[in-house]
Amino acid sequence: APVELDERYDDSFNIGAAVEPYQLKGKSAQVLKKHYNSIVAENVMKPINIQPEEGKFNFEEADKIVKFAEENDMDLRFHTLIWHSQVPDWFFLDKEGKPMVDETDPEKREENKQLLLERVRTHVKTVVTRYKDVVDSWDVVNEAVADVASPETDGLRDSTWYQLTGTDYIKVAFETAREYGGEDANLYINDYNTEVSQKRENLYNLVKGLLAEGVPIDGVGHQAHVQIGWPSIDDIRTSFEMFSSLGLDNQVTELDVSLYGWPPSGKYNTYEEIVNSEENILEAQADRYDQLFNLYEELDADISSVTFWGIADNHTWLDDRATQYSDDGLGKDAPFVFDPNYKLKPAYWAIID
Ligand code: XIL
Repeated sequence: APVELDERYDDSFNIGAAVEPYQLKGKSAQVLKKHYNSIVAENVMKPINIQPEEGKFNFEEADKIVKFAEENDMDLRFHTLIWHSQVPDWFFLDKEGKPMVDETDPEKREENKQLLLERVRTHVKTVVTRYKDVVDSWDVVNEAVADVASPETDGLRDSTWYQLTGTDYIKVAFETAREYGGEDANLYINDYNTEVSQKRENLYNLVKGLLAEGVPIDGVGHQAHVQIGWPSIDDIRTSFEMFSSLGLDNQVTELDVSLYGWPPSGKYNTYEEIVNSEENILEAQADRYDQLFNLYEELDADISSVTFWGIADNHTWLDDRATQYSDDGLGKDAPFVFDPNYKLKPAYWAIID
């Protein structure tokens, strides 16, 4: 009988999956219960869904995921308290409904900044208070770092958050999460391309500076939206080691292994084409998974959880990308270890053995 993924890695780290509420029944739920011991919401815990209008919190969909985690004794990651994307516009409108970024008067800019930070406090306080007993790790801030060298923003993403508050939105988010989540709350800063030298340096400098100021960060979430040939295992290793050296935990938070480079070619339009590909692409993907999990196991003292950004190849955000960039408006990716019918792929056997 096939070995359960979470059991296979029981001595090392959790195995998680990102889910939409509709996946909590039927076959996907069965596979979730069998192979995973942690879940995270793919979308429904993002600010746009949790607080679509100021003061109007909507926990209905989020609660379904919380309930499933509790009923099945799974860990729960919370994704995400603060992000520049999937955040409702009202956060950045002043009291008159004008975009805060348009304000030029220094006094009013300061007022706007305080209003925005107050909104961060309210959002974080409300969500953390509600879920503190059920959430095991929090993505407090997502994608705060720039992809390139950017001295003018100290290596930070030039988001509206940054333009209006500098790094204060990050500090306030973590401090509020600690205040209402307590000492036991595990607080992460999450980002993609944390393996890429310039970006990981930007992230490292940010985190090091914040820690020196006493900002309560417990770990780094590495999204790990990777490809078969990229990034190198050495770069991935270096990244984990850099953050461990700061005394931080690491989590792999959004793992998927795309069949494509960047931008994705949308070379395969159907799963059948993938399975029958001349280059045996699913075997190449299996080798890649083998390398990744060998590394994770080797560094397991520094990694507390590995979460896939989905369950099986029938539901992946990468399909949208493959489709978007393809010439013919079609595109299929297949980033996971279960196929669209939840059958075991070569990649599954690669990480079990
Ligand atoms: C993605 C979801 O998978 C999609 O369904 C949604 O349309 C957009 O967001 N980095 C993140 C995740 O932190 O929240 C993103 O999730 C993928 C990239």
